[in-house]
Amino acid sequence: YEIDWDASAAEKGGWDSFMDKEIHEEPAAVQRTLFGRLDDEGNINLDEVRIDEHDFRAIDKIIVVACGTASYAGMVAKYAIEHWVRIPVEVELAHEFRYRDPILTPRTLVVAISQSGETMDTLMALRHAREQGSKVLAICNTQGASIPREADAVLYTHAGPEVAVASTKAFVAQITAAYILGLYLAQLKGTVFRDEIHQTLDSLKAMPQKIQQVLDTQPPRVAKAAEQLADANSFLFLGRHVGYPVALEGALKLKEIAYTFTEGFAAGELKHGPIALVDEGEPVVFIVPPARGRNILHAKVISGIEEVKARGAFIIAVAEEGDKDVERYADIIFWRPQCPTLMSPLVDVVPLQLLAMDMAKQKGYDVDKPRNLAKSVTVE
Ligand code: AGP
Repeated sequence: YEIDWDASAAEKGGWDSFMDKEIHEEPAAVQRTLFGRLDDEGNINLDEVRIDEHDFRAIDKIIVVACGTASYAGMVAKYAIEHWVRIPVEVELAHEFRYRDPILTPRTLVVAISQSGETMDTLMALRHAREQGSKVLAICNTQGASIPREADAVLYTHAGPEVAVASTKAFVAQITAAYILGLYLAQLKGTVFRDEIHQTLDSLKAMPQKIQQVLDTQPPRVAKAAEQLADANSFLFLGRHVGYPVALEGALKLKEIAYTFTEGFAAGELKHGPIALVDEGEPVVFIVPPARGRNILHAKVISGIEEVKARGAFIIAVAEEGDKDVERYADIIFWRPQCPTLMSPLVDVVPLQLLAMDMAKQKGYDVDKPRNLAKSVTVE
């Protein structure tokens, strides 16, 4: 008898799309990116990075260059690295970078983030930085690609091959790698106490299990939300602090694969314009920071929720388990297990990726190969 052999289905390992499979690989992607970068004493060991300690210590500014999802990972990293290392971190879209005559010195570290390592805009930004005498460190997922080959140093993300056009597991791996870099710099420069570095690393090590918890519990809620929202014409995504780049990423995912008009904003910007877009029934997604530790940002985001709720918006929230304020206002909640604010993007992005995927499936679109898009953009 004949066996029906579908090579593509086999590669998907039982999932019905690569995107689904890759989202479910996120715990492993974070774990593998951490693996081997901590020594027996729990210190960060980046021997693989070929920039010597003396040059690293002298760095007085970081500029992240990247596009799309990778640039949002860079934005998340900015909050963490500035906090830990006390040096300015700029995040620049790679295609804007070299055309504005950026200020680059030998003490500037340019960090090029790219899943594919072949994005032409990012490669050209890297070349420009090196021509100006700055060192470039690549955070890349693809071994031996052009960007890591041309960089002075590489920190590989070990997310495994990403096939779906929409980047998912690479995003969490990029944040992890950028955090390792930030904590390494903090360790070298002595800007954070050793104990605090170890505590932060422990929080980071706990994240794969927390992502798994989200994957184990939230998909039915997300699927139900996708069903409810499949006919919505537009969405707003709002967040503050590290929740802001997560909002941008959630909005990008929905544009890319569900072809829905979305806009991501910093939640504080709402009253400066975007609130005019809010009408009866408009879906608005809020990334709500933890309330613990009397986090002032939590109160601010809740007041943003109140504002749009009063105008009839349909509220979808990503919030920490047990958040009573959110329960009061939100129509749909995707729950996040407790974790420090800086770690929250690693879990918060998961339901948003699932939402985009489920909405695209609802509409009958090919989630792995969205129209007009290529996995890696090799033209400028
Ligand atoms: C994300 O889902 C994208 N398809 C896209 O924005 C991507 O992140 C961007 O093109 C950068 O790609 P890279 O990481 O391979 O450089």
